Amino acid sequence: MDKEPTFLETNATPGLVGQPVSRVDGRAKVTGTATYSAEYNQLPGLVHAVMKTSDVAKGRITTIDLSAAQNAPGVVAIFTQQNLPKLAKTPDKQEDKAALGAPMGFMPMQNDQIFYAGQPVAVVVADTLEHAQYAATLVRVQIAPEAPIASYHSPQAKLYRPESVGYAPGLTKRGDARAAFASAPVQLAATYTHATLHHNYMEPGATTAHWETPNRLTVYESTQGVMESQKALAGMLGLPMDQVRVVCKFIGGGFGGKAWVWPHTVLACLAAKAVGRPVKLVLTRPQNYTDMGHREEQQQVLRLGATKEGKLLSILYEKTATASPFDDYAEHNSHIIGRLYQLPTYEATYQLARANVMTATSMRAPGDMPGSFAIECSMDDLAAQLGLDPIQVRLLNYADKDPDTGKPWSSKSLKQCYQRGAELFGWGKRNPKNGATREGKLLVGYGMATANYPVHSSQGNARVRLYADGHAVVQAGATDLGTGTYTIITQVAADALGLAPSNVRFELGDTILPSTPVSGGSNAAGRVSSSVYLAVQDVWQKLIKVAALDKKSPLFKAKSADIAVTQGRLHLKADPSKGEAFGELMKRANMTDLEGDAVGRYGSSYEDTLATANASPTKKDDAAEHAMNAFGAHFCEVHVDPDLGTVRVTRWVGVMAGGRILNPKTARSQIIGGGIMGIGAALMEQTVRDPNLARYTNASLADYHVPVNADIPDMHIEFIDEHDPYVNAMGVKGIGEIAIVGVAAAVSNAIFHATGRRLRDLPMTPNKVLAALRQPA
Ligand code: MOS
Repeated sequence: MDKEPTFLETNATPGLVGQPVSRVDGRAKVTGTATYSAEYNQLPGLVHAVMKTSDVAKGRITTIDLSAAQNAPGVVAIFTQQNLPKLAKTPDKQEDKAALGAPMGFMPMQNDQIFYAGQPVAVVVADTLEHAQYAATLVRVQIAPEAPIASYHSPQAKLYRPESVGYAPGLTKRGDARAAFASAPVQLAATYTHATLHHNYMEPGATTAHWETPNRLTVYESTQGVMESQKALAGMLGLPMDQVRVVCKFIGGGFGGKAWVWPHTVLACLAAKAVGRPVKLVLTRPQNYTDMGHREEQQQVLRLGATKEGKLLSILYEKTATASPFDDYAEHNSHIIGRLYQLPTYEATYQLARANVMTATSMRAPGDMPGSFAIECSMDDLAAQLGLDPIQVRLLNYADKDPDTGKPWSSKSLKQCYQRGAELFGWGKRNPKNGATREGKLLVGYGMATANYPVHSSQGNARVRLYADGHAVVQAGATDLGTGTYTIITQVAADALGLAPSNVRFELGDTILPSTPVSGGSNAAGRVSSSVYLAVQDVWQKLIKVAALDKKSPLFKAKSADIAVTQGRLHLKADPSKGEAFGELMKRANMTDLEGDAVGRYGSSYEDTLATANASPTKKDDAAEHAMNAFGAHFCEVHVDPDLGTVRVTRWVGVMAGGRILNPKTARSQIIGGGIMGIGAALMEQTVRDPNLARYTNASLADYHVPVNADIPDMHIEFIDEHDPYVNAMGVKGIGEIAIVGVAAAVSNAIFHATGRRLRDLPMTPNKVLAALRQPA
């Protein structure tokens, strides 16, 4: 059942959507007038908080001596678990954790237990940051230490099988994968390991908590989700939702690490209440490694059975990962491995080991990023074993329907991505023999991998106020992660309203605005653009009613279905000369402004979205009938130095299909950013925990290596022109995460081609490359 795409064309000025518009917030950012969460310094009586954290990873607090610290200059108050006000609700109980939407089933400073190194044990509040920092050095907290467990590698670690790991069941089964594997003519088995990674956002975790009255709190918070923060804080502090306002106008990176409320936020709010003054708490760089989650270290064992021709028969998959003492969370890698190719049988399991670490959390393409490393290297191995081209083996196993559900895709342009990518990259020049291409002494390799990320279903709200004078205010409570939400929504609203973008003001990042869930899961662009587009349609529908009742209007008595709106002018579809501009109509009706609102639903077409907004619960929506995913392909060239083991990525081509691309400039930046993050994970990024002390040894931007400009070649990014009539009113799939999926595999595949050696342990640092080169190919 094919539908006509319900895109903007019918109803808006052709113009801004799809154009490479520069960031509307760019000037504010580069001139320093954009206000970040730690910059609300004008609040009256603002004081500064510093967290003192535990060096010990496991134990109990025995004694606390604050005498020296309390007498230090400027100290306002010092909080420990002895005097910190108790929370109304803590996430320690599973049901409370779920109700709060909390990331971790534990809140520090509520008792004397120490579960991980870096756990806050005291909060010092002083008149200046320097006074708070100094006094914190004088706080003496004695901890009776116990031997910690650093990871699932530890000899003391006890592996267990969780019922679920957060977003995936502990066991996934499709057909009899074991039998199919056992009888498969071609069998491959490999183990992939992945280091702990941190988000390393430029802006650290930051909270400014301001109690305007004893029961009314405003929090300026560096967060991807103001609504989620509001809910968690209201629950923990025992306040009704309307008494907690969370604001985040600008954020300096999130990548999933700021999708939730972490301990420092809660502590800042409690401290502010206790001292009766606004409190600012900014994490130190090392504290960002221990207070806000990470991508967990993990091992993946992937066994793959195939026919002699290279068709997949079975995958058996097991992931092992480190979990915190209080949560079963691990990334849900099993999804992408079962979804990427036509795969008749599949079994995936997880095992976890509790260790003395902070809970892991979402990090760009959680599950799909590391999962793609395992499946995309395995597919490359399969191609090599059978003498097939890596693209050929992927086309052989191309999934025309979602292998998981059997549903048709809402759209899938992966073949075009392979084809265009290969063309741009010059894949045809690839010598099929590994280790056969050289440039001087350097070994040259070409690698490719598939990218994929789902379109998650969700809904969000928006409001548009159109003024008769030709200006508009557009509102949605989303966060702009720095990726361009301010810009793309201004484009969408200006087009839909027929206004110049300078006459449209888009406001976001505040719980007093229409509520919108977390800007995460690649959801924000599709969700907010759709809800704003629909809110504009609501404005037009209201105005059409006004016109139909107005004897002086050329549209008097016209039926809504017969009217279209073009560039802000309402007119008869059949006779466009009959109509008038909204401003004339509104002025005659004595309206200074008019508001429209909408619920934009992901996973629904325009009509279905309207139906949903009118609460028609029985209507079967498109999300139930289609599998919705974005796809793409990465191609890269590497140069490997056989003497030094260094790997340099020398060329990159990424071709993505993410539905409608609202702004190719910001979209390209996003794909480049994800690619760089993936190259970082492939070649250099890792956080190392001391195996005995369970402390991070490289928790700084000096020691944790992220790519710099010199590490990254010019990246060529293109988008396939993809029309998806099902995903949402704007046909936008979202591209924030797909950018990183498959990247590390493409690099490993290129190293394999360059050297004939397969590296399966991330990051692929020179020592590992050299060790592999010493082994026979
Ligand atoms: Mo994303 S890792 O869902 O912010």
